[in-house]
Amino acid sequence: MGKIWALESARTLQYAASMQIPAKGMGRETLMSALDAARARDANWRDGKTFSLVYYAGDDVLELLHDAFMKFFSENALNPMAFPSLKKFESDVVSMAGNLLSHPSVAGSMTSGGTESILMAVKTARDWAREHRPHATAPEMVLPITVHPAFEKAAHYFGVKAVHVPAGADYRVDVDAMKAAITDQTILLVGSAPAYPQGVVDPITDIARLAADRGLLCHVDACVGGFMLPWVRKLGYPVPDFDFAVPGVTSMSADVHKYGFAAKGASVVLYRSRELRRYQYVTYADWPGGLYGSPTAAGTRPGGPMAAAWAVLQYLGEEGYLRIAKQSMETAHAVMAGIRSIPELHVLGEPTMSIFAFGSSELDVYALADAMDKKGWSVDRQQKPPSLHMMITPAHARHVEAITEDLRGCVAEVRGSSAANEGSAAMYGMLGSLPDRSQVEAFIGQFMDSLDTTTA
Ligand SMILES: Cc1ncc(COP(=O)(O)O)c(C=O)c1O
Repeated sequence: MGKIWALESARTLQYAASMQIPAKGMGRETLMSALDAARARDANWRDGKTFSLVYYAGDDVLELLHDAFMKFFSENALNPMAFPSLKKFESDVVSMAGNLLSHPSVAGSMTSGGTESILMAVKTARDWAREHRPHATAPEMVLPITVHPAFEKAAHYFGVKAVHVPAGADYRVDVDAMKAAITDQTILLVGSAPAYPQGVVDPITDIARLAADRGLLCHVDACVGGFMLPWVRKLGYPVPDFDFAVPGVTSMSADVHKYGFAAKGASVVLYRSRELRRYQYVTYADWPGGLYGSPTAAGTRPGGPMAAAWAVLQYLGEEGYLRIAKQSMETAHAVMAGIRSIPELHVLGEPTMSIFAFGSSELDVYALADAMDKKGWSVDRQQKPPSLHMMITPAHARHVEAITEDLRGCVAEVRGSSAANEGSAAMYGMLGSLPDRSQVEAFIGQFMDSLDTTTA
């Protein structure tokens, strides 16, 4: 389901309750029209009206991705002996990411996305700890509250307890709180570069030092920033140290399908050493189907995303990424300046790159989001504190004025109105303030069920 912004629009979709494979196959043309019709209400990302989910760097990039992807559409990296091409793409992409993130001899794997990379990093830490911290029989990882929920997923899947610690007023994790949360069961400390909610980079140097002092692993989640922060720094913007240049950082995740502008299904999980990566693998010698070895969570590993990731890194090159980073940063700063020019709104913290959040101490931001929806924008809602989120790419460059003016108009509209008690604003307000979060989690589960089209 992802972000809750989908709640209200998805609710109105109409599905058949039950569907069978048709007795006779349909014609290609009919099907293509059906596919086109199906997307009629989908988010309008190409026009820069959305601020998450799709990273769009222009039609030339899209075409290149499409062509590279299609060349390896059927290939499967499950067996690298059968498809040495894919193994080469994977090794090259990992190596290019390592060089970008200050570790030319990095070890790593390609995965299907940030979540799988994070799952793999936590699985690796757990299995490493079984050997290196055997007293940690109920392993724990210490996480900033702002860290991506993929770590929560990893906690569920791998039986590693997630211990969340608060952030300071600047939305960066409080390292003293992290220190206080370490127990003899702790195996892993985590920081984000940047964290998604406010786009600020955690104090990675301090976190990594703490981890190294205590003999723990340290993962930096650079899923959203890994393919952006190095260019942002090169352009002269201040970027704190966050990668393998920081002693004590033992693993990183970085998504090529975010600011690397690759096709979806492409991320890397990186390790300081091959020895550490070995804990990620699953091998099984007794399967009647043959000797089995799998580096990541997936069995079948589609070749398309690997080929497209490899191709886009070569196609754009440093020059292309710097151009895109410059445009994204200038656009983000212009939009933030627009937001700051509206007295009722403020930007949260000091975002390091082109993702940020804004809030208001005077009006209901969820009502503001509803009003923006009506003008055709899809602005993401956040909580703790209530705020709205934007991820900026070159697709937004031509909209700076329109975004600012629509925000200004919507603020005027929402100010003093009862919009906070209506529509999705009322629901977000209620869900955000319910003290029993397990009730909210149950609601989310019910909601996910309600989207399902089957009647079982
Ligand atoms: C900081 C961060 N980490 C991890 C993820 C998860 O990535 P994915 O959606 O590719 O699984 C995201 C997604 O937005 C993210 O922003």
